[in-house]
Amino acid sequence: MRVDHLHPDDLAPASILVSAGRQPRVPGAGVNAPLELTSTYVADGPVNYARGGNPTWTAFEDALGALEGGAALVFASGMAAIAAALSLAPEGGVVVAPTHAYNGTGVILQDLAAAGRMTVRRVDISDTAAVTAALQGADLLWAESPTNPMLEVANLPTLIAAAHEQGATAVCDNTFATPLGQQPLALGADVVMHSVTKFLAGHSDVILGATVTADTDAGRVAYERLSHHRLIHGAIAGPMETWLALRGMRTMHLRVERASANAADLAGRLAGHPCVQRVRYPGLGAIVAIEVPGGAEGAERVASATRLWTHATSLGGVESLIERRRRHASEPLTVPENLLRLSVGVEDVDDLWRDLASALSTLGGDGTARG
Ligand SMILES: Cc1ncc(COP(=O)(O)O)c(C=O)c1O
Repeated sequence: MRVDHLHPDDLAPASILVSAGRQPRVPGAGVNAPLELTSTYVADGPVNYARGGNPTWTAFEDALGALEGGAALVFASGMAAIAAALSLAPEGGVVVAPTHAYNGTGVILQDLAAAGRMTVRRVDISDTAAVTAALQGADLLWAESPTNPMLEVANLPTLIAAAHEQGATAVCDNTFATPLGQQPLALGADVVMHSVTKFLAGHSDVILGATVTADTDAGRVAYERLSHHRLIHGAIAGPMETWLALRGMRTMHLRVERASANAADLAGRLAGHPCVQRVRYPGLGAIVAIEVPGGAEGAERVASATRLWTHATSLGGVESLIERRRRHASEPLTVPENLLRLSVGVEDVDDLWRDLASALSTLGGDGTARG
């Protein structure tokens, strides 16, 4: 990173978010990293062609790497980063992954297994004994914690150690927790993966992904392989998207602090609402899942009755979103039909509550329309 005089180890996350990835402080230099739009570079420099590198990527990667405590690589999307990270498993290898991983992760695992490229063992990631048993002879642990959308929490240090005992690579999708809530590399993981689209970028205006690898022998090998994968498979980030994500990241601590406080407040109020059957909230972060009466129809009714909350997929932006996850055919059948995922934003919490409570109150106790 390029903060003069200070090493990232000396800085709190808020200071890293604001200061990392900036230009060297020389007279006349811009305070912000440049948006470099070029496909090629004058010969004989460190990078020849922009599929291999870009100064705007470097600025973003310096900032995210400093925050997670490793070396970051930016990808075109979270899915591109997932595809790259899964390529670390050997051909025909065994991958252990959560039953309720993000549904795109579930689909790519299913596709790779169907093509005979790997064997996939899906387990409840919050059941440490079951995951440890499934890791027998495994090549890669894919952890996600909390999971999307069931919000199950994994015992990462124990699972990572169990993976390493088997010689398996430990990867963690840290999208939900964000590096502010959890730093898997410090817990022993080899690779962290992010959908930068969510909290890191934070404004629902870009699709972007990243990996961050540990500063260990295994981590450095993984970095080289991921970097080669990006160069050759070509799922590269646009400089504009990367620049926007870096700009969004500068305020992540403020956004996440406010959104998490709103989520904690709303989770408590939701638990006392007569039309809420169950609240899932891991006690940290800005995502809450609720179950409402009336099955799929009841949940759809609530999602479409809100005015401040937007009925939309995705999460981690400044605006509050609500969605019934089972609308997506790829969502596992063990996710309840009536589950609504709430991505809590940074609006006024009383306004959010009034809107949600009024949408919920369109349900009777059994989910039928009231009035
Ligand atoms: C936990 C998690 N991981 C990965 C992804 C995929 O990221 P992207 O949509 O940026 O490709 C998502 C997207 O919703 C997600 O929620």
